[in-house]
Amino acid sequence: MLQIQNVSKNFEGVRAVDDVTFTVENNEIHGLIGPNGAGKTTMINLISGLLSVSSGEIIIDDVPIHKMAAEARARLGIARTFQNLRLFRNLSVRRNIEVAEIHARDKGASDPALIEDAIDRFGLRSSLEEAPGSLPYGQMRRLEIVRALALRPKVLMLDEPAAGMNSEETGALFENLTWLRERHPCAIVLIEHDLTFIMSACEKLTVMNMGSLLASGLPQDVTKNQEVINAYLGQGNKDQQERNK
Ligand SMILES: Nc1ncnc2c1ncn2[C@@H]1O[C@H](COP(=O)(O)OP(=O)(O)O)[C@@H](O)[C@H]1O
Ligand SMILES: [Mg+2]
Repeated sequence: MLQIQNVSKNFEGVRAVDDVTFTVENNEIHGLIGPNGAGKTTMINLISGLLSVSSGEIIIDDVPIHKMAAEARARLGIARTFQNLRLFRNLSVRRNIEVAEIHARDKGASDPALIEDAIDRFGLRSSLEEAPGSLPYGQMRRLEIVRALALRPKVLMLDEPAAGMNSEETGALFENLTWLRERHPCAIVLIEHDLTFIMSACEKLTVMNMGSLLASGLPQDVTKNQEVINAYLGQGNKDQQERNK
């Protein structure tokens, strides 16, 4: 459904993304992993339209979107959260969510019951009238997810959603993402460093390193790939690899 075809991005002197090709299918949870600086956030910026590609194509449901403005891509169903949170600081938690809901309503896709359920699931009910800046970090991250969900996306991209969360919060997040996808079928692209989280959550994995694609496919195949092991999994994760054999 979402096709990334030979996509590259150059910043002066840096090839942040180098000829990357992979596909995200309908309704799959797709992990995007790799060491720091691999180009993961840049890839999400290219898909969401925050950055434009230097070359290559991005296609959703057969529609090329890589030349569209971010707004237009959002209307086509691409939503994302940010590694460095970007909430509307002057609006209440509820208003942050409503801003996204208005967009969904415009395209006839608003589902107030879904959002009310998500507010409960993601633990935001008691903070609805607060300013986002006053929330604990984990809650701000969860607000970003609910706000993105309120757009009723086809593709939901989450950039390190568990960063700054403790292991209990991370566990709950995993359960909530599973719930979210059942309640609102969509593809989820998940950038995450916690391999336990990734291996239990993701049906497909794409691994990047220094801008390049190392592997893309089923987790059990990708984690056996020698280049992936050398670049990312390393010695510390031998146990994980044993289990995946
Ligand atoms: N706006 C930018 N200008 C210049 N270089 C950038 C910019 N954004 C990212 N980069 C560089 O691109 C590379 C990939 O970064 P990034 O996509 O953030 O990696 P990741 O999310 O995998 O850690 C890094 O070398 C980074 O310094
Ligand atoms: Mg990043």
